[in-house]
Amino acid sequence: MDQLKRQAAARALEEVRDGMQLGLGTGSTAKHFVELLGERVRAGLKVIGVPTSEATRADAERCGVPLTTLDEIDHLDITVDGADEIDPALNLMKGGGGALLREKIVAAASDRMIVIADDTKWVPTLGRFPLPVEVIPFGLGATRRAIEKAFAECGVSGQMAVRKARDGHVFVTDGGHWIVDAQLGRIEDPPSLAKALSAIPGVVEHGLFIGLASSAVLAGGEGIRVIERRKPKGD
Ligand code: A5P
Repeated sequence: MDQLKRQAAARALEEVRDGMQLGLGTGSTAKHFVELLGERVRAGLKVIGVPTSEATRADAERCGVPLTTLDEIDHLDITVDGADEIDPALNLMKGGGGALLREKIVAAASDRMIVIADDTKWVPTLGRFPLPVEVIPFGLGATRRAIEKAFAECGVSGQMAVRKARDGHVFVTDGGHWIVDAQLGRIEDPPSLAKALSAIPGVVEHGLFIGLASSAVLAGGEGIRVIERRKPKGD
């Protein structure tokens, strides 16, 4: 599996050109990309990156990839990131690693987002992977009730749980927020659910990435498949 992730990362690296400003994703697949990019940088490639998490920042620094912020530059050429699920419209489920907020800000600031994954992430319908919803701890009860209402209006339901870290304490995101994971099973209309969740005051962000991915690079036993999005970015 790790080999497939690395192959997808290597294919995405072929799109990188000298002088590009890159969004650097988070997770085990994106980590391969950062490592491979580091090899190219050490061989003379000139790029600059914006990391989507403190973990990726540490990886990029270790690999020698120069970093900047979205305050210092005005756009990114390409963001390369992993995903937990990818559907045929290139809607994504993300946030299994808890970095969804910065990942979405960075993807939205990029001309293109290339999603890299092993082909087990390719699904006909999003939702088997629990949907991460990043929330403000204050007023969580009210926020949870509003999320349940949004779920009902969008025809989905399922158990919700505040994410815990490995040590048993509540998982805290890089932004200081909590994550509620919702076990929904199937999400028939991801764009409507995304819109409903974004309208809830205590919700900071959610793991549905709609209209952001430009292409997906899927590595499987039979080789690599590249799927391009038909609609322009943002639709
Ligand atoms: C991080 O918050 C996530 O969005 C990751 O991009 C996603 O979980 C994919 O991670 P892996 O590449 O480790 O499967």
